[in-house]
Amino acid sequence: MDSGVRICELPDSGKKVVSLSGKEILLVNLKGKIYAVENECPHQGSPLTAAIVKNGALYCPRHGYRFNLVDGHCAEHPGFVLATFPVQLNGEAILVDLD
Ligand code: FES
Repeated sequence: MDSGVRICELPDSGKKVVSLSGKEILLVNLKGKIYAVENECPHQGSPLTAAIVKNGALYCPRHGYRFNLVDGHCAEHPGFVLATFPVQLNGEAILVDLD
């Protein structure tokens, strides 16, 4: 599904929230690779819009849980997994697979 965001709108370490099929999805550019995750922390539901992107991970702004952008796992708290979605590029367009 086309996220409506073009890669030029998402600078390195940049984030952008889009609403796709009624879900809030956070797009993240990490060194030129784009990731898509649910914009809701699996811990206590905080939006991740203000999360910090560092060392390949996303740090929740609320309690600092650290989620791997590739698989959503949290090393310190393995019971909490952030939903991640496959991303493809079609030219400049960022496509997210929500299925
Ligand atoms: S709500 Fe995200 S770490 Fe607690």
